[in-house]
Amino acid sequence: MRFYNVSIFASLLYNTIFSFLLFVNVNSFDSFIQFPTLEDSRGKSVSLLYVNEFGAKGDGITDDTKIFQYVWKRACASFLRPKIIVPIGYSFLVQPIDFVGPCRSKISLIIEGSIVAPKDPKVWDKLDAHKWLYFVKVRHLTVQGGGTINGMGQKWWATSCKINTTNPCRHAPTAMSFHKCNNLKVRDIRMLNSQQMHISISNCINVEVSRMIVEAPAKSPNTDGIHITSSIRVAIKDCTIRTGDDCISIVNNSSSILVKNIACGPGHGISIGSLGKSNSWSQVHNVCVDGAYFSNTENGVRIKTWQGGRGYVRRISFMNVWMENVSNPIIIDQYYCDSPFPCPNQTSGIHIHSVSFIGIRGTSATKNAIKFACSDSSPCKKLFLKDVQLVSYSGLPTASFCWKAYGSTSGLNNPPSCFNFVEQTTKNLSNWSDQFI
Ligand SMILES: *[C@@H]1O[C@H](CO)[C@@H](O)[C@H](O)[C@H]1NC(C)=O
Ligand SMILES: *[C@@H]1O[C@H](CO)[C@@H](O)[C@H](O)[C@H]1NC(C)=O
Ligand SMILES: *[C@@H]1O[C@H](CO)[C@@H](O)[C@H](O)[C@H]1NC(C)=O
Ligand SMILES: *[C@@H]1O[C@H](CO)[C@@H](O)[C@H](O)[C@H]1NC(C)=O
Ligand SMILES: *[C@@H]1O[C@H](CO)[C@@H](O)[C@H](O)[C@H]1NC(C)=O
Ligand SMILES: *[C@@H]1O[C@H](CO)[C@@H](O)[C@H](O)[C@H]1NC(C)=O
Ligand SMILES: *[C@@H]1O[C@H](CO)[C@@H](O)[C@H](O)[C@H]1NC(C)=O
Repeated sequence: MRFYNVSIFASLLYNTIFSFLLFVNVNSFDSFIQFPTLEDSRGKSVSLLYVNEFGAKGDGITDDTKIFQYVWKRACASFLRPKIIVPIGYSFLVQPIDFVGPCRSKISLIIEGSIVAPKDPKVWDKLDAHKWLYFVKVRHLTVQGGGTINGMGQKWWATSCKINTTNPCRHAPTAMSFHKCNNLKVRDIRMLNSQQMHISISNCINVEVSRMIVEAPAKSPNTDGIHITSSIRVAIKDCTIRTGDDCISIVNNSSSILVKNIACGPGHGISIGSLGKSNSWSQVHNVCVDGAYFSNTENGVRIKTWQGGRGYVRRISFMNVWMENVSNPIIIDQYYCDSPFPCPNQTSGIHIHSVSFIGIRGTSATKNAIKFACSDSSPCKKLFLKDVQLVSYSGLPTASFCWKAYGSTSGLNNPPSCFNFVEQTTKNLSNWSDQFI
């Protein structure tokens, strides 16, 4: 009976996700694209800047970087709420480029066609290897349009030290980075094969990323979908992310993060962390993941911290999640060690508390569907499990693993929880999503 309910839930979620995919694929975007006008719907003047009208070739061979740079500068200097249009039917080859703000008015970058990166990593030899399309200090920017951004990452992956351990480890560019931004909206873009991370949001406030499709092969190294650091009030909604690393990662100094309706897989799941590398101080708080579908991912919902870190992770809720053949559906790993050398045991750790898992259902690829490997020096506290139903993909029973994990439960949970210390709940700490507003 339980399992029957779960299947209905899954098919509902699945249908929602895939009808949304269809919607994205048919390109039903803003009508002003078809009807260029010098006034927008509120009667304000707008200027339409088609990159090809300024000389961009868009043949996938000619380097259009200078034209993009020129058009951006022009748009940025305009008071007329400019819309930069990257038209459909063209493929613009763009080298590493900085889009620098602040600008005089709100800008829309409408990508209907495609933007492609140079294939050859040598292009970056004398440039900053962290960046390709880099937006800095931009306020009130909207990026949308139904087009594609292709990082052409194949050569970068082939020379990664994670693929061939004889290679030196080095950074590869993030396809699209937003640094020090506020009031950013990114939606309806397909991002493919980034060299490393697909989207990075750092030191930003008020961001909404929605209806994105992010894709890279399962074996591509470090190709996180969306990476959030030092940012406040970020919402990620209705995205499909299939990559070789975390679908979404939320790291240091981030809070009020809402992640809603995400299909993830292949990939490493939705992660808070890693945090605390090299004994650093870090904090992440008020994160709500509500509605996610993971298929064949290495992890589902995860918190990962290095030993020896300081700081805290608190008020996190993961809810309404469906897992399908996920290796670690629920995992807190305070012994994270992404290094070629073993990490020695240390005496400090990041404090993890007030983390709830509500309505997490589906199948686990491994026996331990729940793993709480908390720090020896600072146990995880106020963990909360409610209506967690995880069966094994192969049909065998599942189990929980707890080390220094303190918490409480409610509802029906399978596998049963294994808290090392069962806390009395005095307050209702189960749901942190209201903290987002
Ligand atoms: C790994 O890289 C080294 C040096 O770049 C190269 O000689 C070797 O053939 C590579 N191995 C594989 C399996 O690609
Ligand atoms: C933390 O994030 C806030 C918000 O983006 C930013 O203003 C601040 O500079 C960040 N602090 C550090 C040390 O990165
Ligand atoms: C994390 O952010 C805090 C500010 O909240 C800052 O003091 C600290 O240095 C940052 N740690 C790392 C590892 O960046
Ligand atoms: C289930 O996950 C395991 C471990 O990742 C994998 O080896 C296996 O192929 C997956 N099964 C299916 C049917 O995808
Ligand atoms: C580190 O600590 C863990 C947990 O207490 C223990 O299982 C492991 O053996 C320790 N490793 C070393 C190298 O001491
Ligand atoms: C606590 O919150 C959960 C989830 O929002 C809700 O279902 C439950 O009724 C609440 N319990 C109390 C005692 O308020
Ligand atoms: C959590 O709280 C929010 C806002 O109060 C509510 O909309 C949502 O349904 C709650 N979710 C759960 C799983 O209780």
